[in-house]
Amino acid sequence: MTRPLSERTQNIAASLTVAIDTLAKQMIAEGKDVVSLGAGEPDFATPKPICEAACKAIHEGKTRYTPPVGILEVRKAVSEKLARENGLHYKPEQIIMTSGAKHAVFNSLAALVNPGDEVIVPAPYWVTYPELVKWLGGKPVFVQGKRENDFKITAEQLKAACNERTKAILLNNPCNPTGSVYSKQELAALARVIVAEDIYCISDEVYEYFVYDTEFTSAAAFEGMEERTIVINGFSKSHCMTGWRIGYNAAPAPIAKIIGKIQGQATHHPSNIAQYAALGALSMGMESVNAMRAAFKKRRDYMLERASKILKTPANAPQGAFYLFAPVSDFYGTKTPSGKTIGGSVELCQYLLESEGLAIVPGAAFGDDSCVRFSYAASDEMLQKACDRFKRGLKNLV
Ligand SMILES: Cc1ncc(COP(=O)(O)O)c(C=O)c1O
Repeated sequence: MTRPLSERTQNIAASLTVAIDTLAKQMIAEGKDVVSLGAGEPDFATPKPICEAACKAIHEGKTRYTPPVGILEVRKAVSEKLARENGLHYKPEQIIMTSGAKHAVFNSLAALVNPGDEVIVPAPYWVTYPELVKWLGGKPVFVQGKRENDFKITAEQLKAACNERTKAILLNNPCNPTGSVYSKQELAALARVIVAEDIYCISDEVYEYFVYDTEFTSAAAFEGMEERTIVINGFSKSHCMTGWRIGYNAAPAPIAKIIGKIQGQATHHPSNIAQYAALGALSMGMESVNAMRAAFKKRRDYMLERASKILKTPANAPQGAFYLFAPVSDFYGTKTPSGKTIGGSVELCQYLLESEGLAIVPGAAFGDDSCVRFSYAASDEMLQKACDRFKRGLKNLV
């Protein structure tokens, strides 16, 4: 064939986190001894009440098409959750059930972005954001969160990045990959700029339940924000439902309508069964979420303790999510036992995978080449092995 494929797809990158996880899984399947802390996937099973809700839905014949925006029962439950836990007022008709939070990010950008529009992406960022902005013809504008400010951007930085082409900011709080969490005061200051500059906010809150020494506040909870904020959330992380592909958008009414149209033409709706499973998740109480948070906090403390003895520059203590973003640039310029030079995070991760069987993600994937990302959503035994391998791998660099 000589006819060209879609130009818009030419400059989007494949997800490096997915690539590393796939490679690690392939190596494991080939019988290699690999410890993989690459994927952001809780290691716990989906709680039983959720599985039971899904089985019940199947047996009751909830196996047909639903409205594109999802079934009313689960949208009502999401609306009530947002009111109860986050003090928000999105009505059921403003909720759209999606095939995971990633899909909800896509929906949001598809509803907002015109070619040439700028979307502010605080860096370090989740790998998917800039690629989706680019795919839709927009321009990601990176604003670097400084390590001294726990990788968070300030209101002043945000203001300086805004201009007449700015359409929205893509906030991720708590953040993947840094684990940083914006305080209420910091968010209030950002919200004032967002309102004053009259831009939209896409607020990805998938890690809201995993905060450790602080409290979570939704970006939509500030004056003037709900009418311009699309909240994104899902069940992959909070309820160990990565493979179920279920999440949601909560959006201002005109945007919710557009997202409903997009979804009606693109995917129709997420799986009917997964929607009932999500309803089960929203009805089951917080016991399993609380237990996971406690487990992650212990693991976070373990990873920090080990990292402090291995690294030359101390890692920031993640306040949320389940990632450690470890500074490793002190090791750049060194050589591996086979004579290869470690030039940056990609080479370091390649070396650790090949020589130690340790899969972690280069910071370059998240817009910060000075770090590597460990996911500590893994068993204590895996974390211990990973840290041992990390230590040995770095020690062997000369
Ligand atoms: C910040 C962030 N948003 C969204 C997602 C995607 O979640 P889902 O599995 O619901 O699509 C992830 C997954 O890694 C994430 O880290």
